[in-house]
Amino acid sequence: MTSSPKTLRIAMNGVTGRMGYRQHLLRSILPLRDGGLTLVDGTRVAVEPILVGRNADKIADMAAQHGIQEWTTDVASVIADPTVDVYFDAQVTSRRVEALSSAIKAGKHVYTEKPTAETLTEAIELARMAQNAGVVAGVVHDKLYLPGLVKLRRLVDEGFFGRILSMRGEFGYWVFEGDGQPAQRPSWNYRAEDGGGITVDMFCHWNYVMEGLLGSVKAVTARAVTHVPTRWDEAGQSYPATADDAAYGIFEIEGGIIAQINSSWAVRVYRDELVEFQIDGTHGSAVAGLRRCVAQQRAHTPKPVWNPDLPVTEKFRDQWLEVPANADLDNGFKLQWEEFLRDVLAGRPHRFGLLSAARGVQLAELGLTSSAQGRRLEVPEIVL
Ligand SMILES: NC(=O)c1ccc[n+]([C@@H]2O[C@H](COP(=O)([O-])OP(=O)(O)OC[C@H]3O[C@@H](n4cnc5c(N)ncnc54)[C@H](O)[C@@H]3O)[C@@H](O)[C@H]2O)c1
Repeated sequence: MTSSPKTLRIAMNGVTGRMGYRQHLLRSILPLRDGGLTLVDGTRVAVEPILVGRNADKIADMAAQHGIQEWTTDVASVIADPTVDVYFDAQVTSRRVEALSSAIKAGKHVYTEKPTAETLTEAIELARMAQNAGVVAGVVHDKLYLPGLVKLRRLVDEGFFGRILSMRGEFGYWVFEGDGQPAQRPSWNYRAEDGGGITVDMFCHWNYVMEGLLGSVKAVTARAVTHVPTRWDEAGQSYPATADDAAYGIFEIEGGIIAQINSSWAVRVYRDELVEFQIDGTHGSAVAGLRRCVAQQRAHTPKPVWNPDLPVTEKFRDQWLEVPANADLDNGFKLQWEEFLRDVLAGRPHRFGLLSAARGVQLAELGLTSSAQGRRLEVPEIVL
């Protein structure tokens, strides 16, 4: 093993948040700091986080707790620091454009949570800036790295489905209102004026999931609603929920595939996982969650007959076969971080960049317009 040729210094903003702390710092960057990033040729590169946040006490405590040497509340200084290689952003969405723009202008490589912006115009502008600056830019597309979706993608690649007809997705769980029991998501998620809303949050995921599994989305018809109009915030104060907490979408994908995805924070779970996708094709079907994937071939498909007068005798779930992982699939966020950092070191584009992110923002924006206007909207191609 050769000694480290380089240290990658990563400024991490928004690490006191749910995603920034759990998935990005704890599950991804700290293991990389401790173990190093291994390149294809076996070389180890050291990874060094610098914590960035608004609250000095919180950031200092977190740095001390995890043995991190550097932290700051001054975003501008860290972005101006020539020894910093990557700027990472997991702040609330509304703060992202400004921070990413300054980082790109300073020539930093950027890695960011989704959505990259609150409007399509800004998302495209960011993608253009990164392209012109020649920096490596990546956006979190974590769902594609999940074991369940990796298995589903393998079935697509191997032609398991024959001609793919449709996909249905079910995402959601009950998010407590916050009066009796505290809510398990931050209150800004339920305020449109603070960048909240399930359409904005989830349609950018669904866009890359559909692109990654099936192809590009050509049209959308959606209905976004606020089922629960009053919620209670982190301080126990009631507030009007101005953002949508459920979105029901129909997506038309190239090749005539129809996808239908329900996203809801006002639904109770009677499923195996919090998100599940089912793909049906002429030769087989499969259902994938975050981790598991089961499949049923054409030749193994039973022939149910509709008869409401008789009790169900078949155990439908038992008729599916488990798709094996055949590999040790690590945490999805960490896997994508590793891929992104290897791209930074190699100076090549990351496969999920800011243009892909802009398409996600576009789908969310069109979804909301479709809902407001009550009509189907085609998805224009974005050209940088
Ligand atoms: N990839 C995913 O699966 C996934 C899941 C959830 C959220 N996200 C995205 O991650 C980002 C952060 O979401 P989260 O759930 O961690 O949110 P959070 O509220 O838990 O964290 C937000 C972070 O931003 C900081 N912040 C900066 N300015 C702020 C302001 N004015 N008000 C409030 N906080 C401010 C907070 O200190 C905190 O560090 C969002 O953009 C969200 O869309 C991604």
